[in-house]
Amino acid sequence: MNIEEAILKVPKRGFLDIDIDPTLDLFAEIERLKKEKNAVLLAHYYQEADIQDVADYIGDSLGLAQYAAKTNADIIVFAGVHFMAETAKILNPTKKVLLPDLNAGCSLADSAPADLFKCFKEQHPGHLVVSYVNCSAEIKALSDIICTSSNAERIIESIPEDQPIIFAPDKNLGGYLNKKTGRNMVLWNGACMVHEIFSLEKIIKLKTRHPNAKVLAHPECEEAILRVADYVGSTTQILQYAVQDKTTQEFIVATETGIIHQMQKDAPEKTFIPAPPNNSCACNDCPHMKLNTLEKLYLCMEYETPELVMDEALRKAALKPIERMMEISRKVGLIK
Ligand code: 13P
Ligand code: SF4
Repeated sequence: MNIEEAILKVPKRGFLDIDIDPTLDLFAEIERLKKEKNAVLLAHYYQEADIQDVADYIGDSLGLAQYAAKTNADIIVFAGVHFMAETAKILNPTKKVLLPDLNAGCSLADSAPADLFKCFKEQHPGHLVVSYVNCSAEIKALSDIICTSSNAERIIESIPEDQPIIFAPDKNLGGYLNKKTGRNMVLWNGACMVHEIFSLEKIIKLKTRHPNAKVLAHPECEEAILRVADYVGSTTQILQYAVQDKTTQEFIVATETGIIHQMQKDAPEKTFIPAPPNNSCACNDCPHMKLNTLEKLYLCMEYETPELVMDEALRKAALKPIERMMEISRKVGLIK
């Protein structure tokens, strides 16, 4: 397929399907393209190791959104999933936002279709809607405040106690927050396919074999897993916890396996064991995140497609609850 044909097929395929010369040094090419195009490459911790290694910034959803909001680059290349690139575009309407594969979605975001959520909201008049950032722009536009796994507890705590709240789309994070804050938020019944796969039984067996290991879990995990966790936090928070914990050498990590790459880089003397899933597949790899490859990344930078484009009215509506999140985060001292 020639380049013109491949570009025409991007909207349908989701990515540029072009053969690359196998002798090409993709790391050097990506560095060259960054400089030539004044592009910044942002990557989530769940990306494959090669992509993390070539990124300018690696972070959790909050860190990535904050970085995107303040960059001077002309092009933001987002190695993550669709809702993350969308958030970058919402914050940067004048910048070109590229992503290696448009099909890199999120099972959690997909679990909240906007039309059904609108009906759900109408069934709960007087409720404030707090949505986890892992949702579509349409859900954001139906929300009052966005939160991420890093700031969710503080965001909920900033809301008056007598204010009824709908929390969407993650029932596991919502349930965890209800427990932590003593609220009784109405929860949308959504979940992440990766974080629901961990086996409590296998984690307990692992703990028996590694009695000094601490369990680190992402709050998208089911309640039973969170109950046995020594620490619960966002990807950045569990990474920092593992690096800073001076007394522990071994950690069982209950989140997507990509994070282990940074853990091993930042604390090479420690051992990180991926929490086992409840079957024999590699289900704690996010199939959406892992759609991005170094080849697709190089191609999207070279040909500046796929690009994330958004309807301006939707963008403006989705921006409001993100700004509210930033405002509250500033007020409670989470960001400057
Ligand atoms: P973090 O914001 O904690 O990185 O979470 C993103 C995510 O998709 C978790 O599944
Ligand atoms: Fe979505 Fe889960 Fe993948 Fe995170 S790990 S991007 S929540 S499907």
